[in-house]
Amino acid sequence: MYLFSRRCLWVCLVACISMTALSLSAANAAIYKATASAGSGGIDLDLEVLIDSDTDEVTITMVGPADRWFSWGFDTNTMRGYSIITTFSGATPIINEQTLVAIGNPGSPQSSQDLTEVSADVNAGEITLVLTRPRVTGDAEDFDFADYQSGGDIDMVWAYSGSGSQTLVYHQAQARGKNLSMQFRENSVPVRKQSWGLLKLEFQEVPAEEAP
Ligand code: HEM
Repeated sequence: MYLFSRRCLWVCLVACISMTALSLSAANAAIYKATASAGSGGIDLDLEVLIDSDTDEVTITMVGPADRWFSWGFDTNTMRGYSIITTFSGATPIINEQTLVAIGNPGSPQSSQDLTEVSADVNAGEITLVLTRPRVTGDAEDFDFADYQSGGDIDMVWAYSGSGSQTLVYHQAQARGKNLSMQFRENSVPVRKQSWGLLKLEFQEVPAEEAP
């Protein structure tokens, strides 16, 4: 039979309650992930979109050339609609949400910019940009990933400057693509393992506190 000191019991209760809270929140958290890859002529474009269903925050990671403009367009099969365009001023990336108007007409940066730049790292000629955005921005021109939990296809287009231009000029025919799609899938959340800590904590703490 175990004899519990009051201090020990208090430590166990706090530990167990906090671990239970962690387990519950982990069980509710769901991260949905979609990826796309494209490119041509030795230039690669990679995209990863994560959506946290708890916070409704979208994290967009884009990898592309560090010396010329590149872009992804969402929910479209042609040069029209919501896009994210990265141009450059020297080594500094300039990221804009832009609504493409029609083939040959890229429009201009949206008046309401909703992306936050988290990081921009250059390695071996490629830039990795991490951006965040609320899933629903309230801006009618933004794509809000409304059906991300149902796993349907999202049509994507892409482009980069075939001539190596930092500023937005015609990409050239070989440096753009369409008929590409991505799907969101629920990503397993490793923090779920934390629920085993509930058992471990109960058995480890008691003998330690009982030592004379
Ligand atoms: C100054 C900027 C831009 C100009 C002048 C421009 C011009 C053009 C032109 C003339 C075409 C038809 C010829 C071709 O297929 O290459 C075209 C097609 C296309 N552009 Fe752009 N573009 C620009 C920016 C962009 C951006 C930022 C994207 C974003 C992804 C994009 C995506 C596309 C796509 C996907 C097509 C093929 C459309 C289709 O076949 O339905 N363009 N563009």
